[in-house]
Amino acid sequence: MSIISNCTASTIKDAATALKKGHLVAFPTETVYGLGADATNKDAVIRIYEVKGRPSDHPLIVHISSIDHLNKWARNIPEYAIKLARAFWPGPMTLILPRTEIAQDFITGDQENVGIRVPEHTVALALLKEFEAQGGLGIAAPSANRFGKVSPTSADDVITEIGDQLLGVDRVLDGGTSQVGIESTIIDCTKENPIILRPGAITAEMIKRVLTIELKRGSISGGDLKAPGLLESHYAPNAKVFLSGSLQPGDGFIAIKSEVTPAGAIRLASPKDNIEFAQILYKALRLADSKKIKSVFVIAPHGEDIAIAIRDRLQKCATKN
Ligand code: TXA
Ligand code: MG
Repeated sequence: MSIISNCTASTIKDAATALKKGHLVAFPTETVYGLGADATNKDAVIRIYEVKGRPSDHPLIVHISSIDHLNKWARNIPEYAIKLARAFWPGPMTLILPRTEIAQDFITGDQENVGIRVPEHTVALALLKEFEAQGGLGIAAPSANRFGKVSPTSADDVITEIGDQLLGVDRVLDGGTSQVGIESTIIDCTKENPIILRPGAITAEMIKRVLTIELKRGSISGGDLKAPGLLESHYAPNAKVFLSGSLQPGDGFIAIKSEVTPAGAIRLASPKDNIEFAQILYKALRLADSKKIKSVFVIAPHGEDIAIAIRDRLQKCATKN
C-alpha cells in the first residue's frame, strides 16, 4: 500500500482514480479516519468488510461532497433532515434516510435506509470532489479500524490497525490528526421525529437550536436499525477500561487536567477541556496498548456537550464487571 503524506491535487486525483478502479483508499476526516471504497462497487465494498473483519450485514456510511448530491442516494427526505444538512454539513453528522436504488443492499446491510455524510476535512472533500468529477457517486467509509476496535485518528493509527490487510494498489492519505477525534453524530431521519442513534460533536442541544420538531434519543434495543457502534462492546483497546473502582499501581490513567494523577498511575492524557478530551481519547487508549498497560482507569468528563458522546464511547469500551 502507498502512504500519501503530501496530499496535492495530483496525488488526490490518483487516489480518486484508484477508488474508481475498485481499490481501497483510507482517508482523513474531521471525526476519525475512514476506509474508503466506491460505494457503487460491490467487490470493493466487500473488501472493506474483509479488511475490517466486520460482519457483512452492518451498513456503511456513504460520503458525498455536498448536500447537492443527497438526492442521488436518499428519497422522501423530511424537511427537518434538510434543515440539519444545511446547518451542519460539511460536518460531523450522519443522516439515516430512505434509500434510492443507487444505495444497494451491500451498502445498507439489506435495510431500506442509507447513512449519508459530508465530512469537513480539506483532504476528504478534495478526494470526494475529484471522485465525483471522475463519475463517482459516493465513497463508502467506515472507521478504518478492525471491527470492534478503537477508531484511528491519524494515518499511523490506520497502518497499525489494518496496514497488514491492505494491498499494494491501496492507498492511505495522511491528512494529520483528526480534529474532532470521535465518530459523527448519527441521526435517524426515517421517522416523523429525528432520533439520535449515536451521539457526537453535533450535540442534541445544537440540533434543538435548529429544529422546532422534537428530538428523540434512540438505542439499538429500542430501534430496528443495525449499527455496530451501538452494540454492547465496541471502540475497545486491548487494555481493560475501567470507569469506576480502585486504581492499582501501573494502571493507565486518563482524566481532565485538573484531576490529580493517583499515586503509581501512568498518566496517558491530561486534556484541558471536553473538546480536547474527545480529540485525544483514542490516541490515549492506543498509547496504553503500545505501553502494554493492562488496565486503564478513566474519569469520564462531565457536561452535556461533547462529553455525552465521550461517555457513550467509554461505556461501550469499558470492561463490564
Ligand atoms: O465519523 C464517522 O461517522 C466515521 C467517518 C469515517 O465518517 N465513520 C464511521 O463509520 O464511524 P462506522 O461504519 O465505523 O460507523 C458508522 C455507524 C455504524 O454503526 C453503522 O452500522 C451505522 O453507522 N450505519 C451506517 N449506515 C446505517 C444505516 N443505513 N442504518 C443504520 N445505521 C447505519
Ligand atoms: Mg467504526
